[in-house]
Amino acid sequence: MLKEVIATRYITPLREGGSLPGLVEADDLGTYVMKFTGAGQGRKTLVAEVVCAELARRLGLRVPGLVTLELDPVLGLGEPDQEVQELLKSSGGTNLGMDFLSGAVGFDPLAFPVSPEEAGRIVWFDALVNNVDRSWRNPNLLMWRGELWLIDHGATMIWHHNWRGAEASAARPYDIGDHALRPFGPDVAAAAAELAPLVTEELLAEVTAAIPDVWLTDEPGFDTPEELRRAYARPLLARAGAIHERIQGGQ
Ligand SMILES: Nc1ncnc2c1ncn2[C@@H]1O[C@H](COP(=O)(O)OP(=O)(O)OP(=O)(O)O)[C@@H](O)[C@H]1O
Ligand SMILES: [Mg+2]
Repeated sequence: MLKEVIATRYITPLREGGSLPGLVEADDLGTYVMKFTGAGQGRKTLVAEVVCAELARRLGLRVPGLVTLELDPVLGLGEPDQEVQELLKSSGGTNLGMDFLSGAVGFDPLAFPVSPEEAGRIVWFDALVNNVDRSWRNPNLLMWRGELWLIDHGATMIWHHNWRGAEASAARPYDIGDHALRPFGPDVAAAAAELAPLVTEELLAEVTAAIPDVWLTDEPGFDTPEELRRAYARPLLARAGAIHERIQGGQ
């Protein structure tokens, strides 16, 4: 389970983010990047963030720590910005919080060299979760304290938008033509040899256990949150073994 904290103060919107994530302070005095249930694709985006970050962390990749952030919509009442106010008002309850990496800068492929090993691990991970949001236009990679950190995993696991077609969708290849780390010659074969054996049913059960129940209720076709957790684990388990052979656009 993720640590639970309560949002106490809305500080400012992070203007770069399409979904208008905000910076908030919580009752543990931490500062978090808050992602809202009331934004765009809503809670599915947040579920994807949790599954990917908790999986990435267990595979040894750097991702900011996650918490759940309880939001009382009255926090939005004093917001002068209409868009922010609407977002806060529509996001009462459990939202996602992410450790704010203060002073982090966006990854610049021309300024920061990445080793083929590290690039390989990240590309392999992105292929596993089918991340379509790591392009050179918008890499969603931060440099913090001299190291590369992964953020923004809301646009992954496309199959969770249509569970009936999940198996076929998860069987498709992954294209890295636009991937921000392609120019670094990612060694995906080495990454697969190292990481694929770690992606077990047990590990995925631990990862999916971190998804808050409230984001898993009332999903058509599923009676319980546990059933839906298993549906999240299945395609990842199926892909882990051979996804490196289905990465396209590497040349
Ligand atoms: N944990 C963090 N620490 C520091 N800065 C962050 C963190 N998370 C996000 N940011 C900053 O906020 C921006 C927006 O975050 P993010 O990409 O997660 O939002 P988004 O709405 O999904 O964005 P988009 O869809 O536009 O890529 C990032 O590009 C980054 O500059
Ligand atoms: Mg982003």
